[in-house]
This record gives sequence, structure tokens and C-alpha cells, in this order.
Amino acid sequence: MIVLGIETSCDETAASVVDSDRRIRSNVILSQLDAHTPYGGVVPEIAARAHLDHLDSIIHQALTDAELTLDGIDAIATTIGPGLIGGVIVGATMGKAIALARDLPFIGVNHLEAHALTCRLTNATAFPYLLLLVSGGHTQLLAVLGVGRYRRLGTTLDDAIGEAFDKVAKMLGLGFPGGPAVERAALMGDPKRFALPRPMLGRAGADFSLSGLKTAVRLALLGLPAGPVADQDLADLAASFQAAVGDIVADRTRNAIRVFAETYGSPGVLVVAGGVAANKALRHRLEQIASENDFTLVAPPPILCTDNGAMIAWAGIERLQTGKSDPLDIKARPRWPLDPEAEA
Ligand code: KG4
Ligand code: ZN
Repeated sequence: MIVLGIETSCDETAASVVDSDRRIRSNVILSQLDAHTPYGGVVPEIAARAHLDHLDSIIHQALTDAELTLDGIDAIATTIGPGLIGGVIVGATMGKAIALARDLPFIGVNHLEAHALTCRLTNATAFPYLLLLVSGGHTQLLAVLGVGRYRRLGTTLDDAIGEAFDKVAKMLGLGFPGGPAVERAALMGDPKRFALPRPMLGRAGADFSLSGLKTAVRLALLGLPAGPVADQDLADLAASFQAAVGDIVADRTRNAIRVFAETYGSPGVLVVAGGVAANKALRHRLEQIASENDFTLVAPPPILCTDNGAMIAWAGIERLQTGKSDPLDIKARPRWPLDPEAEA
């Protein structure tokens, strides 16, 4: 089975061709960074228009790279939520139109489920596993029990981790997107220079809180001598922030591993997914936590952690393999929690 995957839920216009033997035949990603950089964040209306301008040629490129035409495609998988609704509608409409014109099955994919299942494309990870999903919009710990079967163990009470990276980068004048910029600056910094708080540390459960840390970074910045901030100060603040995030993630994940192990047994597998999973310092912390608790860490390559079409195609394949496809009147959704028992 060969599936075309389409992703337009945020600021990447992406299309990919993946087959059920876990082969990624093409993976084309167009970042709209330049369009959003002047605003310091993703502007939904600009994103939707950019998807509309580029999606055609990105799909064409994905087919060309895979050395296929639509004749060689067996199904169309497209993100239909959650995400910036204008962009989601652009992708969903395109996916449905191709499916209708070609009489192909259509799978409306949950973007979060696609992040959650990427490790099965890259590492053939077996269910159940513990997932830390960390992106610009989401910070969750979930037990992944099967396709469409998720139990949320923890979530953020305020900002998502990627959002915190982006906001801190903006404060420090490091640009957008913030994650990679903070990580780069932190390489030159002293993580012990600023004593930043670690909200929720030591508390029961696996929920997160980031907003106090973000405020502390702002106050530390204000506490520096007046005038332009020295590069070393910026690097030290970035490193101190990243270290605090690492401690928070380690503590929360440790608790989630315990809960997961009680219910589903140990040793187990810890998977990290979403854009923030590209962060090397964080991966290193998770590696430690996993091995201390008899778990194995699975982290897909960074290019498949940030938004991409391959994960959408793969989620479509997984859904098709359970016998599911969707009617063409299925609606795009701005919010769509993986665990229906837990609030989004
Ligand atoms: O999954 P993703 O590409 O889009 C969403 O679905 O949100 O994640 C994007 C987020 C952004 O907040 C970005 O700053 C963050 O992931 N990110 C990183 C790194 N690379 C991307 N955060 C920390 N370190 C990185 N290296
Ligand atoms: Zn994402």
C-alpha cells in the first residue's frame, strides 16, 4: 500500500509518499519561516494563504521524488486537526478533492496521533508505550495503547514547552522559531549562572507548568545592567532556561514512567515526539531517565519530529490497516484531544 500524506496544520506545507513496508519514498517540507519571522510568530491568516499558494507544487514534488504519479497512490491521508483552522482546511480540501477525483480512500488524520505513531514508522515500536509529546502547541505524557487508543497521564497547565522556548527566544532577541535558536545559544552558556525556578518539581502526577519559568527568565533579563545585553549573558540565560526545562521534563517523565509501569509493566519504552524532541540536551536527559528506570528511549530523527507529511501518511496507513477510512464530509477540527476522557 502506498499513501500520500498532506500536512498544513501550522507553518509547514508538507507532502510525502510512504508505503506500508515503512519506506519513506519522498518527504517534501516547505517552511514558511521567512513569511512569519517579521511578526515573531506564526500568523494564522498568512499561513493559510501560503499553504494555498504552495500545496500544489509541494504535492507534485513529493510524487516526482517518489518517481510516481497519482496512478501509483492507494490512499490519501491528510491532517484535519488539531491546528490553525485556515491552514487545516486548505490541506483537508485538497486531500478530499484528490481522493474524490481519483476515487481513493481518504483518511482524516489527527496531527497529534501522527506525532504519536511516528516511532512505529522509524523504529517499528510495539504497543503499548509511554509517549512524551512536546511541540509548539502541546505538552503531554500519554500511554499509547493502540491506534486510536490513548490515555493521558499528564499535560501542561499553561504554556506548551515549545511555546515557552519560542517566547524566551523572543525575549532574548534570538529570533523565531525559538527552539533551535535557544538550543544554539545555550551551547555557549553556563546553565548554573541563573537560578531559575522549576515549577511542579517533586509534586505527584505528571502535569507541567511553564509560565512561572518564563516570567523568571524575563525578570532575570530585567535584572541585567542597562544597555545592550552581552552575548555571554544571553547564552547563560538560554542555557539556564534549557537546564530548568530539562529538570522539569525529567521529573514529570519519571513520575509518568512509574504510573505506566504499574499498569502496563516494566521494562517499557519511552518515546519522545513533536518539534521540541529535536532538542539534543532534552534527548540526553530523557535517555538518562529512561535507563535509570529500565525503559528504552526511542527518539525519531529530528526531521521526523518537527511537522512533516511522512508522519501523516504513516498514520493514514495505520488507520487503513485497522480497516478505517473517512467519509469526504468529515470536518476539519481546530481542537481534537487524543484522549477523549481528558480535556484538550
Ligand atoms: O511539532 P512542531 O514542528 O509543530 C507543532 O505541532 O507545534 O513543533 C514546533 C515547536 C516550536 O515551538 C519550536 O520552537 C520547537 O518545536 N522546537 C524546538 C527545537 N526545534 C523545534 N524546541 C527546542 N529545541 C529545538 N531544537
Ligand atoms: Zn506538530
